[in-house]
Parts: sequence; C-alpha cells; structure tokens
Amino acid sequence: MKGAIFNALQEFVEENHGYQLWDEALTNNTLESHGIYTSTKQYQDVELFAIIGYLSEQLEVPIPDLVRTFGEYLFPLLMSLAPDEAQNAPSLRTFLMMVDELIHVEVKKLDKEAQLPEFSYGGDSGDNLTMLYRSPRKLCFLSEGLILGAAKHFKESVSVSQNSCMHQGADCCEIEITFNE
Ligand code: HEM
Repeated sequence: MKGAIFNALQEFVEENHGYQLWDEALTNNTLESHGIYTSTKQYQDVELFAIIGYLSEQLEVPIPDLVRTFGEYLFPLLMSLAPDEAQNAPSLRTFLMMVDELIHVEVKKLDKEAQLPEFSYGGDSGDNLTMLYRSPRKLCFLSEGLILGAAKHFKESVSVSQNSCMHQGADCCEIEITFNE
C-alpha cells in the first residue's frame, strides 16, 4: 500500500481522534517502517491492517465501519489526483464506471508498483449499479467509503450494501449501489 494512504490515515486519525492515538498505534505495533511513510513509496499491507486493528480496538469501532469512514475521508484526496475526464464526469454513475478502466489504469501507467483492485460491473439498470470488487487486500469496506465520498462530491444520494463478500468466503465482493431520488 502506498505511503500516501498511510499519510491520509494519519491525518484522519489526528483530525478526528488526536495526535496521541496515532503515536500509540505506531508504538504498540511492530512496524518494519517504524511508522515513517513517504507518500510515493510502497509499504507492507500488514502494517495498515495492524494499525487499523489497533484503532478499531481503542475506539471500539468495528473494522468495517472504521475503514468505510476512512474511505469517505480519503475520497477528496484521491479525486484531486484523478484525470480531468473523471473530475469532469457528468454524474456519479459515469464516474464509477471510469474507476477500473480509466482512473486506476492511469494510476498504474504513472506508477508500475501501484497495487490496485479490479472492478467489473453488473446490474447496470435504472437506479442500481453493482461493482464486483476483487483484490488480495480485501478492502471492500474502503471501496464502500470511497463510493460514499464520491456520492458526496457529485451531490447525489446513494445506499451501498454488499450481497456477497470475500470476508465471508465469496471469491469477490458484490457491492450494490442504489441511487436514491
Ligand atoms: C469510488 C471510486 C474509487 C474506488 C471504489 C476505489 C477503490 C480503491 C481501493 C479499494 C483501493 C485499495 C487497494 C485495493 O483494494 O487493492 C484503491 C487504491 C488506490 N486508488 Fe482507488 N478507488 C476509487 C477512486 C480513485 C481515484 C479517484 C483515484 C485517483 C487517481 C484513485 C487512486 C488510487 C491509488 C493511488 C490507490 C493506491 C494504490 C497503491 O497503494 O499502490 N482511486 N482504490
């Protein structure tokens, strides 16, 4: 996982829960990086999961909820790096359809080491869209939060749920987005 994601998590924790909690999360885990994250470098996913696990325990917030809220916070930071075509998308639906074949493709072009999920799309009818998420990192709840953050950005109202999830043994996570009027 990119250092930039760790940097964003640090900001999120410090803004919402104070500096001390972030320091504790670093000192209470054995981290190969010693908690020093350069935005452009890659770090082991286990470090992210260890920090999130610690935060979840201390804040008494279940991991899915914590990761989803972080995803919402992260969205504007990622959006500022997105290609113009995605930033100028006419709607949330059009934007979401660009994540796999435009946005993440451009990320990979600029950074061969980037570790990105795969999305395929289904159920694209009227007020629904299904995004099938596949990644060895199983960060489906981060996706949910990013989608909610994107909805806020496009000033649209959506509900997000999962019909099947890799955490329950499925081979991909089926994220269903319902567009509310
Ligand atoms: C709703 C929209 C989006 C969704 C659902 C999404 C989903 C994700 C997820 C779940 C990850 C974590 C890695 C994994 O699961 O394997 C990720 C990583 C990432 N995404 Fe996206 N993303 C979205 C929008 C964006 C945008 C707008 C950008 C801007 C260029 C972006 C750039 C990145 C980058 C740089 C990473 C980190 C790659 C790494 O650690 O090497 N994403 N994305």
